[in-house]
Amino acid sequence: MAGKWIIAVTGATGAQGGGLCRAVLEDKNGPYKVRALTRNPGSGKAKELEKMGAEVVAADLDDVESLKKAFHCAHAVFCVTPFWEHLSPERELAQAKNMADAAKQDHVGHVVWSTLEDTRDFVPLEDKRMPTLMGRYKVPHFDAKGEANGYFAGLGLPVTFLRTSFYWENLIYFGMGPKATPEGELAIAFPMGGAKLPGIAAGDIGRCAYNIIRSREEYLGKTLGIAGDHLTGKEMAEALTRALGRKVRYNDVPPETYRGLGFPGAEDLGNMFQFKRDFERDYCGARDLEAARRLHPGMKTFDEWLSENRHRIPIGEGLQKASGE
Ligand SMILES: NC(=O)c1ccc[n+]([C@@H]2O[C@H](COP(=O)([O-])OP(=O)(O)OC[C@H]3O[C@@H](n4cnc5c(N)ncnc54)[C@H](OP(=O)(O)O)[C@@H]3O)[C@@H](O)[C@H]2O)c1
Repeated sequence: MAGKWIIAVTGATGAQGGGLCRAVLEDKNGPYKVRALTRNPGSGKAKELEKMGAEVVAADLDDVESLKKAFHCAHAVFCVTPFWEHLSPERELAQAKNMADAAKQDHVGHVVWSTLEDTRDFVPLEDKRMPTLMGRYKVPHFDAKGEANGYFAGLGLPVTFLRTSFYWENLIYFGMGPKATPEGELAIAFPMGGAKLPGIAAGDIGRCAYNIIRSREEYLGKTLGIAGDHLTGKEMAEALTRALGRKVRYNDVPPETYRGLGFPGAEDLGNMFQFKRDFERDYCGARDLEAARRLHPGMKTFDEWLSENRHRIPIGEGLQKASGE
């Protein structure tokens, strides 16, 4: 371990950061080691990372001083915000700024910022096609990340902006899996019309981040979008039908219906799907599949992800209850 460069990973016990930790720790002969940031070094997930060889340190995204300590002497840092833990775009922005300030103070050599589009660049607040949320957002969890891009860039940090995609794990953990319909069939429901939804195996995000860090010079200052497949709802339903061995239909629900489902974040997600539907060309175009596979040749397709995960997909009742991106 001595002499290896440190990659400090926020969200290390989560989906994105966890994927990065595993990518680095599995590359035993590589020149990097992991510093895993967590609020709770005693948690099961943190202990697991430690056992795999990570240095686990306590840090809180709401506490810039803790981040400064945790980023100390890091060659690279991976920054991701936990929007769905608090559902506050203002807090997400503040957490992103804390990470940027800490990276600046410690002269970190490379920052990989896990971000998304500011949808207000496409749908200005006065555009009535979707409601404005919380006074100044269209898709709060996208817009806050997109707004933070300017903060990272404004500090003159050596940043790579990594635009992620819809995790297929949402079919497992966030109530987006197939549901029984009153007719006794299974259906997935998204307000995407016939537009393609870029998706990804969540663990592949961290592997992309690792390859970006390994090729620092090539990716400094760049914005990269990643996805493993671009699929319509119908194509996803067909793939689920093959994988589950049961007919799964795609229900194209109107965005307003989705926004009205009542779970926390439903309006945000209704606007998000509508944005992806209405700006399919831009959104898919920003996530070129070939470029993503050049960055990470092992990037999974939806079929590959399903063959590994189909047994983990719960088959539930009724429409989506809660979700995240
Ligand atoms: N779901 C999707 O389809 C999707 C797609 C694209 C982007 N995203 C974005 O991904 C982000 C979430 O990333 P994820 O899915 O990798 O996270 P996750 O699996 O939900 O895990 C959350 C992570 O954040 C850490 N965390 C939470 N609050 C913290 C705090 N105050 N200080 C330090 N660490 C904190 C947790 O660490 P500890 O508990 O160990 O402290 C944990 O590692 C969200 O912003 C979301 O918008 C999601």
